[in-house]
Amino acid sequence: MTNFKGFQHAELPLGPLTLLTGLNSSGKSSVLQGLALLHQSYASGDLAQLVRDEHGFLLNGELVRLGTGRDVLNEDFLGDEPRITLAVTEDAYHYEWTVGYEAEQNLLPLVSTRSPATEDLGPERPEGDATVNPAYFTAGFQYLHADRITPAERYPRDHQVAISRGFLGVRGEHTVNYLRHHAGDEVPEGPLRHPKAAEPGRLGDQVVAWLGELCPGVNVQTAVIEGTDTVRLSYGFGSTGTRRRPTNVGFGLTYALPIVVACLTARAGGLVLLENPEAHLHPRGQTAMAELAAASAAQGAQLIIETHSDHVLNGARLAVKRSVLAPDQAVVHYFRGNGAGSEVSTPKIDENGLLDQWPHGFFDEIENTLDQLLD
Ligand SMILES: Nc1ncnc2c1ncn2[C@@H]1O[C@H](COP(=O)(O)OP(=O)(O)O)[C@@H](O)[C@H]1O
Ligand SMILES: [Mg+2]
Repeated sequence: MTNFKGFQHAELPLGPLTLLTGLNSSGKSSVLQGLALLHQSYASGDLAQLVRDEHGFLLNGELVRLGTGRDVLNEDFLGDEPRITLAVTEDAYHYEWTVGYEAEQNLLPLVSTRSPATEDLGPERPEGDATVNPAYFTAGFQYLHADRITPAERYPRDHQVAISRGFLGVRGEHTVNYLRHHAGDEVPEGPLRHPKAAEPGRLGDQVVAWLGELCPGVNVQTAVIEGTDTVRLSYGFGSTGTRRRPTNVGFGLTYALPIVVACLTARAGGLVLLENPEAHLHPRGQTAMAELAAASAAQGAQLIIETHSDHVLNGARLAVKRSVLAPDQAVVHYFRGNGAGSEVSTPKIDENGLLDQWPHGFFDEIENTLDQLLD
């Protein structure tokens, strides 16, 4: 990307599983927003063809609400003219979109698109043919913001969003309805299948088994609230199966539910963006969420996770050590912002799950405080 928010220019290698870590306001969410911005512009038809002024980056939509041109153009933009470029390289192709600047507009007009092949693919695809798009535009996309659903009496029942499109909502608000409808769906064989699930291939049972990592013995039920456009969620505990409303159950379970469903339902070519999957979870549960995300990546989906959790990092390292993921499939970026641009370093995980570098400030707070305590 070039001239997008805090980045003058940045190129970030992404793996099947990528962790974005680092200081507050250092640009982690901006990376996710760039990918989401492309998706929402594509989904609304704004990237489909090059018609100047009428198509471009749709700054405010279902996935992100970024404001106007003034908000997203880097303050010290590179180049003579204010232009923003977002690009994605995937396998043999590089896709690139450049828009112009309108300070007060929320649709930034496309100036150019490019999608050159990065390898020689023969004559099938002429240079400049922008009709092919990255897989994630169409192969399944979820983006769960840091601010997600909290325990409630009811959740929306929107057939079009949850059932037809399979979109969980940026707050996970459609998860309960999705689960109600899709509980019987197949979870493919592999590391995604939790060994404790009652019926190993059934989505509903896999959700219960993975939630059991957060709260052993928990059970989940969804139902329509008759005569309304809402659905209900309830939890059961232990063998007695007493049902409880989410409002009487710990916050963390409901907060994690969309993460669990997003990871279990992502498939090859799909992209899942997660902000702080660790929120409201105890340390062991945080590690389990990383293990689940790694399993999802191992089965062909791509996950990009913004996290402040050592336990999420360690869960990813464990997944590599246990050969769920190859070392080069788990990518870690550490962002250090200084307000005027971001600096990114990329510690590598080896086959034993060890990191080749620990930049200053990168998950070293336990050592720092221990040193002071023992001083
Ligand atoms: N138009 C802009 N020009 C320059 N910097 C910007 C612009 N918009 C946002 N920023 C900077 O980008 C950063 C946004 O960080 P964000 O991606 O939300 O961080 P994180 O998710 O790492 O906490 C902030 O430091 C903010 O000052
Ligand atoms: Mg953020």
